[in-house]
Amino acid sequence: MVLRSCAKSRAPATANPQVSGCPRVAAGWQVRPRTVGCLPATVGKIAATTYWMHPAIPSRVWNYSMDWGMQNRLAGIISPTTRRCVMLAVDHGYFQGPTSGLEQPGKVVAPLLPFADALMLTRGVLRNCIAPDCRVPIVLRVSGGTSVLQDDLSNEDLTVSIEDAVRVNASALAISIFVGSEHEKQTLANLARLCDEGQRYGIPVLAVTAVGKQMTRDARYLGLACRIAAELGAHIVKTYHCEGFEKVVAGCPVPVVIAGGKKIEEREALLLAYRAVSEGAVGVDMGRNIFLSNWPVSMIQAVRSIVHEGSTDVQAWEAFVEMAGQRGALHMTQVVPS
Ligand code: 5RP
Repeated sequence: MVLRSCAKSRAPATANPQVSGCPRVAAGWQVRPRTVGCLPATVGKIAATTYWMHPAIPSRVWNYSMDWGMQNRLAGIISPTTRRCVMLAVDHGYFQGPTSGLEQPGKVVAPLLPFADALMLTRGVLRNCIAPDCRVPIVLRVSGGTSVLQDDLSNEDLTVSIEDAVRVNASALAISIFVGSEHEKQTLANLARLCDEGQRYGIPVLAVTAVGKQMTRDARYLGLACRIAAELGAHIVKTYHCEGFEKVVAGCPVPVVIAGGKKIEEREALLLAYRAVSEGAVGVDMGRNIFLSNWPVSMIQAVRSIVHEGSTDVQAWEAFVEMAGQRGALHMTQVVPS
């Protein structure tokens, strides 16, 4: 193993369109003026009156044909200022039980809440572990029915009534779809039914494009799953980052957030977040790479700086190291395989 400083290991992306060779301009991004009443999806604020527009990103994160309640709930999740979102996912127990790092979800979540735009979890954890004075919008997991003991996780149903979602003041409803799995039709029908219910009550739906064991997480498959989710009525789609992610975003007419996936080094997770938002995601719905970090509060803050403040992964890593260092002996080094 080699210990090396990683602060300068990658040049930060030039975020100034005036500078020749700006990678965003080269990639077709545009700098647009901010206009009152216009709700463009933005990527990386560069000045108070302008924003970066990725060529592939949907031009709006919501539209005015939506009812006020639907718009209001979406605005609580995706910031109307940055058009971005840091969602904290702690719903893993719905099929994994007391999974590592989430044995006591209330304790894990409490210090992270000030930095989360939304909290994704089940009604059981919400009612039992989260204080009801919580002001963070709730994205309620409403699908389930299988456990990790099954080979096939796709056999899901809707597990929460719309009345109960309203009762807990859910800002969005989250459901998994398993495109290409044995229960594909059932999970897509669940999504369509949930969108009808959400539409009736003004509650947006987040579709999670879960990947079956045989499915490859590539742009072709994830693009298919995301587009189908949007076609069936999802208001936000959660998927994985992949090579060619821009194509996934380009083919999906609603905002896309990425899952973090399995725990990886913090440095790599920050790069993942940076690449995702640079390639058109409106943000992250991240779980393990935050709550399994030894420095979860520093980690969510670093992710937040990428998503909302236009930090590069390098800048976010430097900030992470500084914050984590203050919280407990982390040096400006990264362990990399020799
Ligand atoms: C499981 C989920 C989880 O919320 C999601 O995958 C968790 O995020 P992460 O992968 O970042 O831990 O939807 O189906």
